[in-house]
Amino acid sequence: MLGVCYYPEHWPESWWEDDARAMRESGISHVRIAEFAWSRIEPEPGRFEWGWLDRAVGVLGEAGLRVVLGTPTATPPKWLVDREPGILPVGEDGRTRGFGSRRHTSFSSPAWWRESRRIVEAVAARYGASPHVAGWQIDNEFGCHGTVLSYGPEDLAAFRLWLAARYGTVERLNAAWGSVFWSAELRGFDEVALPVGAVTETLPAARLDFRRFSSAQVAAYCRMQAEILRAHSPGRFVTHNFMGRFTEFDHHEVGGEIDFATWDSYPLGFTEQFPLDEAERALFTETGHPDIASFHHDLYRGVGRGRFWVMEQQPGPVNWAPWNPVPKPGMVRLWSWEAFAHGAELVSYFRWRQAPFGQEQMHAGLRRPDRSRSTGGKEALRVAAELREIGVLPDSGAAPVALLFDYEAAWMTQVQPQGADFDYFELCLRWYEAVRRLGQDMDIVAPGTPLGGYRAVLVPSLPHVSDSALAALRDSGAAMLIGPRSGSKTGNLEIPAALAPGPLQALLPVRVTDVASLRPGLSHPVTGTLAGAAIRWREWLELAASEVEPSVLGRFTDATPAVIEMDRCIYLACWPDLALLRAAMRRVLEMGGVSMVDLPAGVRLRRRGDMQFAFNYGPEPWTLPEEVGRRFAVGGATIAPQDLACWRMCVESPE
Ligand code: GAL
Repeated sequence: MLGVCYYPEHWPESWWEDDARAMRESGISHVRIAEFAWSRIEPEPGRFEWGWLDRAVGVLGEAGLRVVLGTPTATPPKWLVDREPGILPVGEDGRTRGFGSRRHTSFSSPAWWRESRRIVEAVAARYGASPHVAGWQIDNEFGCHGTVLSYGPEDLAAFRLWLAARYGTVERLNAAWGSVFWSAELRGFDEVALPVGAVTETLPAARLDFRRFSSAQVAAYCRMQAEILRAHSPGRFVTHNFMGRFTEFDHHEVGGEIDFATWDSYPLGFTEQFPLDEAERALFTETGHPDIASFHHDLYRGVGRGRFWVMEQQPGPVNWAPWNPVPKPGMVRLWSWEAFAHGAELVSYFRWRQAPFGQEQMHAGLRRPDRSRSTGGKEALRVAAELREIGVLPDSGAAPVALLFDYEAAWMTQVQPQGADFDYFELCLRWYEAVRRLGQDMDIVAPGTPLGGYRAVLVPSLPHVSDSALAALRDSGAAMLIGPRSGSKTGNLEIPAALAPGPLQALLPVRVTDVASLRPGLSHPVTGTLAGAAIRWREWLELAASEVEPSVLGRFTDATPAVIEMDRCIYLACWPDLALLRAAMRRVLEMGGVSMVDLPAGVRLRRRGDMQFAFNYGPEPWTLPEEVGRRFAVGGATIAPQDLACWRMCVESPE
């Protein structure tokens, strides 16, 4: 299915009918509206202007479109901010972040909760039973523009309450935080300060708790809206649109509050912003890096417990990256199909028509401001035709490889980086990329998810290994590759009594005696069965006495182990360079009996049920390896740059 984001309030009402008809004619079935329309819905306190929105929902619905209604809480209007200035978030610098853009709210403000309830109740009561409303998008991109963490008095009050509920007594809090260090002990919860603005670093455990608290506030806020919507709108779905490379709250937890996940995919914007090396960025600047969007498709399929949409798909240049190229011809179509290949149920383009005014006037849409169809619009049309031709897409099914992604791991390594370039997200993306380059599909799951059925499980880094995470790893039966810093911290961000890898010593008889972060340019070579080098991070392993000794697959030049293997578990004691990463990945996939194929930098495969897809992000045509019995639904055996192929295998009859 295809969708589009539409802003009826941006256009003369006389255009709506034509727009709705054109959307239907373009093969679009769903339209998301109203997520920023509070000032039009309630122009003055308590005075609701429903007429225009009633008509918009009616016009779109009667044209045959299913409406996804956004709750407008990303943009509280000026009158509300003036009445309730306490809703505004406060930056790390102590300055209030003011009105004038969006997301100017703190998740901990009681006034904000009250006002949110009021507007969500009003919208849900008005449209909850509308036959045109298919479902709801709660808010818009929680946390966008750095708005999960806020440092105002109301945040502090809520943080103290959260800590009191978590620890019960201040003695326990002091113990958990290690407050005796630098005489930071507190006599009561009312002495807790926000971990910001001190002379130098505040207690790491306090900062970790502030991250946990802030994440829990987002989940609670989402739950509050979901409950109101479900009460007024039975039978309709409730979702939220998540972002790319965003770890400020635990998406697995927030995902538990909604029916399925959606996310906003901007491959070129992300390629500009991600920490890629410049040669790589140059190669993919107009196509998007082949694994960035895919990683998120797989991540959000997990967050949505198997179900996800792309709520916003880049349709042309965006306005918000340092540079904003036009996608190469074909890429809007390719991105759409890549999403479907990963199991997306719907791809919705942002936005229908480019706005000639406002902050995003340089952001493309499916139509130009003069109402003509843009290049992206033409490609979306082609996707619609191809979808029609193919019919219902099969279910995704589980992939053979799982990657554990942990939001707390991101927080722990940010709170205590120890090396300036230890970027957890980047590490996960690189591991993901290495597997995708070998032609394999992956699921991305939270630690503690049962892992039975996977052939290989990857743990790029898991500083805190919870009991459930350990149990799932132990019971998985899969081949495992575990990366640096895993098991290096307790839940309170302390070094475990038996040193790293802490609880993982149940799988690996080893301890980490020293760690080093390595500045750019500094690397420690690794030789042996697996060879390459440590970059960014390196550990010193000491093997413990045990009945069965692990095999050492690679050593540093001082002869200490860099990679060890025990039963079906490999531990990699460093951030690996490309050579070592690839070698380790081959080893673990081989051990798990996972088939592999070497793909060029720009080519990726993905299976959805019995449909196999191949995508070419690279500059050269690519020909599929010989295989008989392919029945192509899209394309053929040779795939041009920015093109794709999709096929089913047919079993030849003996005649
Ligand atoms: C998203 C956001 C949209 C729009 C878009 C532009 O992050 O949800 O409202 O701003 O980016 O690319």
